[in-house]
Amino acid sequence: MRRKLAAGNWKMNGTGSSLSELDTLANLHPNAAVDILICPPATLLGQAAMQVSTSSVSIGAQDCHADTSGAHTGDISAEMVTDVGATAVILGHSERREDHNEDSELVRIKARAAHAAGLTAIICLGESEAQRDAANTLDIIAGQLAISTPDTATADNTVIAYEPIWAIGTGKVPTLVQIAEVHDFIREKLTSRFGPEIGNAIRLLYGGSVKPTNADDIFTVSNVDGALVGGASLKATDFSPIITALEGATI
Ligand code: 13P
Repeated sequence: MRRKLAAGNWKMNGTGSSLSELDTLANLHPNAAVDILICPPATLLGQAAMQVSTSSVSIGAQDCHADTSGAHTGDISAEMVTDVGATAVILGHSERREDHNEDSELVRIKARAAHAAGLTAIICLGESEAQRDAANTLDIIAGQLAISTPDTATADNTVIAYEPIWAIGTGKVPTLVQIAEVHDFIREKLTSRFGPEIGNAIRLLYGGSVKPTNADDIFTVSNVDGALVGGASLKATDFSPIITALEGATI
């Protein structure tokens, strides 16, 4: 049985005053039956981790560099993320792949660095609308998964997030059948590469326009172990019903 995970990606949103959302969230879910993770911008990581240290909420970063230290102006290392008390890092988000030309090779070495620092790597995959229209979705996902996931992956240190690019921030959501197709496919690839024990235990998240209004349905889909939520994670009152939906999911 995989423990479910509700993860929020704040992206480039939030200043110090947003940290009160973490207290609200922790107070709404003091004994959560699922893991709750918030990934604020790097500027808030340390303060956020300190603030939730005794609560049900964990903190993650949105990226890290592949090197442990050195001349990389503006970057943060996986060790730095661990050092401030965060426990996870999102890697290979489509916005980083696009804005910073990150490819799956780079995502793999970043994930290796994250693992070495003791972080859980949340590795993101997803096809564009053109790739889906051309019926290339599964090929794209297979390629991204194979290259982005390092051999160091285990059920404890790796989570895979399927986020169709065309569903991010658009209000468009794939059908439940489309989500199931991709998640079942990822599961099959993971079990054939890592064996059934690890392959069946790695958690798979769906991301892309998850809202309180559609979460119940999405969480009925096979091999959906939670969600990676953008916009609806910024306010505790929006994210909370998604967490509650995940707690109620029976699959
Ligand atoms: P939205 O939930 O805002 O569509 O964002 C999804 C996402 O990109 C999470 O990483």
